[in-house]
Amino acid sequence: MHKRTQSGRWLLGAALFLFMAIANTGYAEQPGKVTFSEDVFPILKYRCLECHAAGGPGTVLSGLDLETYEGLMKGTKYGPIITPGNAMVSNLNVLVEGRAGIRMPHNRKRLTKCEVQILRDWVNQGAKNN
Ligand code: HEC
Repeated sequence: MHKRTQSGRWLLGAALFLFMAIANTGYAEQPGKVTFSEDVFPILKYRCLECHAAGGPGTVLSGLDLETYEGLMKGTKYGPIITPGNAMVSNLNVLVEGRAGIRMPHNRKRLTKCEVQILRDWVNQGAKNN
């Protein structure tokens, strides 16, 4: 009798643990809401503006000026680098994720996983000026 109760408790504990583990994973996969002003712009500011502001080598060569939301959405001299809602095909994400021949930031340390994810979530959430 005594033994039975104990294993019952153990099972309940295991079930609870499993439930929480599963609930937790689900939560982690839900992308948090990302904003341009608080999440995206700070990354561009300290990782891209060195070269992608007026007169910088990145802006001069590609036409991409990252000082403002409008500049980011306008893209390069060849056209937009963002397809709102689709980070898979957006050049911005392709470049910072190293999925193309060249990677951005050019000749600099790559973005962290967390920064890459923020840019991905923001584009997938519609690339809004929020
Ligand atoms: C150290 C300078 C430097 C930094 C920092 C930098 N870039 Fe660039 N970027 C360049 C240069 C130079 C080019 C032009 C490359 C060329 O045309 O060969 C360029 C081109 C680009 C292009 C156009 C590529 C194409 O296919 O035409 C994009 C998009 C871009 N950069 C995004 C970014 C983003 C986003 C960041 C920050 C995460 C960033 N860059 C940081 C120098 C830089």
